[in-house]
Amino acid sequence: MILTSIDEAAHHLKQNKVVAIPTETVYGLAANAFSEEAVQSIYDLKKRPRNNPLILHIANRNRLDNLAAFVPEKARLLADVFWPGPLTLVLEKKETIPSWITSGKKTVAIRVPDQSLTLELLQKLDFPLAAPSANLFGETSPTQPEHVVSAFGEKVPVLDGGICQKGLESTILGFDGEDVILYRHGPITLENLEKLVGKIHVKTSNQTAPEAPGMLAKHYAPKTEFYLTNDLKKLQKVFENRKIGILHFSQTFSTPSIVHQEVLSSTKDLDEAAHNLYACIRRLDESGADILIGEYVPEKGIGKAINDRLRRAATK
Ligand code: TXA
Ligand code: MG
Repeated sequence: MILTSIDEAAHHLKQNKVVAIPTETVYGLAANAFSEEAVQSIYDLKKRPRNNPLILHIANRNRLDNLAAFVPEKARLLADVFWPGPLTLVLEKKETIPSWITSGKKTVAIRVPDQSLTLELLQKLDFPLAAPSANLFGETSPTQPEHVVSAFGEKVPVLDGGICQKGLESTILGFDGEDVILYRHGPITLENLEKLVGKIHVKTSNQTAPEAPGMLAKHYAPKTEFYLTNDLKKLQKVFENRKIGILHFSQTFSTPSIVHQEVLSSTKDLDEAAHNLYACIRRLDESGADILIGEYVPEKGIGKAINDRLRRAATK
């Protein structure tokens, strides 16, 4: 069911129902963070492991001090500059934050999304919204309402905010004393963050029990076998007897074995590439190709986040 009314979405959420909400990054599967029942429904719907904690979405940074026990100076600065926006801060949690949001951790992840409908919705609620990306665990994140409907059908009403502007999940930062740690690359780039707070330690490694399970090696994946390369023409030859789908950064080429092609940005614009990434991967997955190959984008700015998602989506 597609909702166009914010009040209707608020009504469902106040009854501890799950509603998919638009954000500037990807659609979220949202519920009242303070209702255990509501949050358990998110995990059940997504088939998400319970050891993978959720992000709290709040209306503005004044609400931060209700949730975090301690906010380091650098975190305050980052919130001042980048909120509302695609930046999640992992902070020491207040006692009042229930463990079903944080998977038992002493920290809680928080952000103010930059999406007008969802900000208005959050203003109408007296609780934060816990929301992971609105996809089944391990699958590609949704950047438009139809993607959510294809995963959850009638089970989840979707507040229609059109296509997500950024198209990639938020950058996640944590704090250790004076140190700032980057757990997930995203639309707010490492370069821009470092301009504000100095050196940041990047800790996005693949582990089985990661500190931010978005770091899981296998994630964001299409169902079709997917390989990555710096040389599409060469890899394409290896699979010549297959029906190939190709994910190009900017320029296409044709051979008889290529059955479908997608281009991230014909003008080599990395923001446009991020915006298009998940929809391109979905179309490739549904194109009838029996193997997908994609190329890395330049490893700079938001390109780091795009390459990170591509690596996790690729077949191991
Ligand atoms: O852009 C986004 O962040 C989207 C939209 C909906 O806001 N949400 C999103 O949520 O990507 P999800 O659940 O797919 O990814 C959240 C990530 C997970 O990797 C989770 O492990 C990490 O945040 N996380 C949550 N709480 C954490 C905590 N206390 N410490 C470390 N990592 C945490
Ligand atoms: Mg996710």
